[in-house]
Amino acid sequence: GGAGDLTNSLTGTHVLISAGGTREPIDPVRFIGNRSSGRQGYALAAEAHRRGALVTLVAANVDLPDPAGVAVVHVETTQELAEAVREGAESADLIIMAAAIADFRPATVTTHKVKKTGDGVVAPIELVVNPDILAGLVEARPDLLARRGGSQVIVGFAAETGDATGDVLQHGRAKAARKGADLLVVNPVGGGRGFGDVDNDVTILTAAGDVVTAFTGSKDAVARAILDEAAQILTTRS
Ligand code: CTP
Ligand code: CA
Repeated sequence: GGAGDLTNSLTGTHVLISAGGTREPIDPVRFIGNRSSGRQGYALAAEAHRRGALVTLVAANVDLPDPAGVAVVHVETTQELAEAVREGAESADLIIMAAAIADFRPATVTTHKVKKTGDGVVAPIELVVNPDILAGLVEARPDLLARRGGSQVIVGFAAETGDATGDVLQHGRAKAARKGADLLVVNPVGGGRGFGDVDNDVTILTAAGDVVTAFTGSKDAVARAILDEAAQILTTRS
């Protein structure tokens, strides 16, 4: 189905998308961050808008023009993103967590710039784990729906490399089970794949780990496929 396909229309729905990569300050001039460009989330926002949705885009450190017709909330840190997403989730029928969230943040942020010392010794930076926003949305959903009714489809992303304990798909399946999102979009990263302006290998899994679809394509094509699947789930649940 294309944009004109009635079954995949998102007219009248609220769609919330997070994009980009969060940054965690170390001191006034430094941060811990990641290489996410925000392009996949922006492609999703533009396509959801094209399909008639009311779109809110929570953008973390994205250096792209705001998509036309989309409400954009710019954030920097994971905590700022978490607050914007929790607020947007209240009315969202579909949430897509495309942002790369910093897993850790410095336990303390110094108000002054960290200086080199003469002895060549660097103090370690103590890190703490950030809350899992996606898992929190899944956990909060039953109460939210009891309060406001309707339905809410939740989609996560998983950037994976294989390692000694499993390949990309095995890690993806484990993550799908752990997160409990309706759909998990798994893509292999590393070696230049997954980031920036290149085609994506994508496998979309259900929470149970079943493959919904798998293909290689542009970020626009990936956006269309994700919204096709999400729209179908919304239709079956309404
Ligand atoms: N995510 C989130 N909050 C976090 C970390 C991740 O909401 N603190 C979301 C991401 O936006 C993405 C999904 O969870 O949709 C998977 O992110 P990923 O980094 O692949 O998963 P993690 O649980 O952080 O596991 P890993 O150790 O592989 O990084
Ligand atoms: Ca992570």
